[in-house]
Amino acid sequence: MSPRAPVPPPAARPPSASDDVDRAVAVLRAGGLVALPTETVYGLGADAANELAVRRIFAVKGRPSTHPLIVHLSGAGALESWATAVPEGARRLAEAFWPGPLTLVLLRTARASDAVTGGQPTVALRVPAHPLALEVLARLGGGVAAPSANRFGGVSPTSAEHVRADLGPEVDFVLDGGPCAVGVESSIVDFSSGSPALLRPGGVSREALERVLGVLVPTRSEGGPRAPGTLPSHYAPRAGLVLAPREALAARAAALAASGRRVAVLGQLDGLPAGVVAYPVPEDAVGFARELYATLRAIDEAGFDVIVAAPPPPEGLGLAVRDRLERAAAPRKSGGG
Ligand code: TXA
Ligand code: MG
Repeated sequence: MSPRAPVPPPAARPPSASDDVDRAVAVLRAGGLVALPTETVYGLGADAANELAVRRIFAVKGRPSTHPLIVHLSGAGALESWATAVPEGARRLAEAFWPGPLTLVLLRTARASDAVTGGQPTVALRVPAHPLALEVLARLGGGVAAPSANRFGGVSPTSAEHVRADLGPEVDFVLDGGPCAVGVESSIVDFSSGSPALLRPGGVSREALERVLGVLVPTRSEGGPRAPGTLPSHYAPRAGLVLAPREALAARAAALAASGRRVAVLGQLDGLPAGVVAYPVPEDAVGFARELYATLRAIDEAGFDVIVAAPPPPEGLGLAVRDRLERAAAPRKSGGG
């Protein structure tokens, strides 16, 4: 009988995705913060049942504690334990788009704490479409409260490196799931007052929502529940952002460069003046959304003063890209974060 190859001791095994999932679950159970990959952006997660852990999210992000968080679930089966009433339309959207880039705002049960909801009578729920996040959620057996894993007001992270650059050692563990496939945050649909309203355009297009519901889904940004992603100045890079129609981009860039500023253009463009640097992004809305945040970050890293960009047409994911560009271009209070 030939001797069998010795089984290597655990420490000698190369780290694997499943070791990382084990670690993420252990850190969450112990009340720590884990950066979780999702298909939209990376989230800064805590066990939603642990109020102290949830409060640390706000401290690390520098986010006001009255701004509610999304609770991430492993499947729609958990809906009833978090929401008192699930309207038919909400159920249909969950069936059509979960796991996926859709967040539902519903009336909450006692399971959703004030720490998570900012004291509001509603809770935001989502099932993310990323295999590692789903595994962590299934293993934890509860909800993970998670905002985007960036400093308040800044550009959301679409890679593990972005999270580390923003939050560094303040996150207990970064679960690296590669670059995010969608690249902009989830669409938020509020059902808490009966008929659906779009609080934030995102990874599921308004057209797709309306197709499934068979009714129009109006945008509601005023008078509804507080949502920091709907503040005018948000999702902002450090550099200033100037929007212009595509045909006027080169002229705007030239004027800004002539005034002595270091100018980057978001997109591929012929005829740019000397000194202005183009950062190409895909022309289709899906590709633009996927590359948007990483490109804004790359421009910031290169030290430009101002970014000139043309918003895409407001169809499909173009609506979400426009929304983020417009908010990033809005007048800022100091800091931004
Ligand atoms: O794609 C996403 O939604 C990502 C990933 C990590 O899931 N998360 C994300 O979270 O973008 P955050 O916190 O950056 O943005 C969530 C938005 C905020 O604008 C928040 O105010 C809003 O959802 N929100 C949360 N709970 C709410 C509620 N009960 N009513 C209305 N808006 C709510
Ligand atoms: Mg955010």
